[in-house]
Amino acid sequence: MARTLIAPSILAADFSKLGEEAVAVEAAGADLLHVDVMDGHFVPNITIGPVVLKSLKPHVKIPFDVHLMISPVDAYLQAFRDAGADILTVHPEAGPHIHRTLQAIKATGAKAGASLNPGTPVETLEPLLDQLDLVLIMSVNPGFGGQSFIASQLRKIERARTMIDGCGRDIILEVDGGVNETTARQCIEAGATALVAGTAVFSGDRADYARNIARLRGDAR
Ligand code: DX5
Ligand code: ZN
Repeated sequence: MARTLIAPSILAADFSKLGEEAVAVEAAGADLLHVDVMDGHFVPNITIGPVVLKSLKPHVKIPFDVHLMISPVDAYLQAFRDAGADILTVHPEAGPHIHRTLQAIKATGAKAGASLNPGTPVETLEPLLDQLDLVLIMSVNPGFGGQSFIASQLRKIERARTMIDGCGRDIILEVDGGVNETTARQCIEAGATALVAGTAVFSGDRADYARNIARLRGDAR
């Protein structure tokens, strides 16, 4: 089985030292840098925009996995791509037309992802699979770090795994929210190939990040 990709969410980093934090998780073995973009409208929190990505980009070599929790979203895709996004993931509910939004992401040259909230049925993916490079299953309701993993989403991960295997395309199956050492193992068993983690990675000192990441991946440490 391929090695599980770990995508630290910078939402849990020290924002006064964001560049150093991003460099530290890369050095600690992170595979992707997960960037949570929130608008205070689609989700009840506000974070960062393209200007912050752009200033981080020259310092980090791993791909930027940009999770857009904003509505409307189409008008901002190119700006995030220009700022350095390698993967752009959107929520179908951000509207108005998810298929068109995915086409627009592809047109920027970025990889395209779709994210399902805990209350969004897995069948939503079916007509989108041929456009997707990544499926993001939310295991918390989006908006905040540090929430508890919603166990009912494990079944959704299993079902998404089956759908992805059935379509025969190479699609990353990523899980986001409340991922810790215990839930990470459950997600991997359910078929996840990538894990987002904020709190579980950015805990302790920077010297602890490598161990935190290795534990999520299931490497004995
Ligand atoms: C939630 C975000 C997550 C969040 C994860 O809306 O999409 O990426 O930062 O944080 P933890 O790992 O602390 O649940
Ligand atoms: Zn996220």
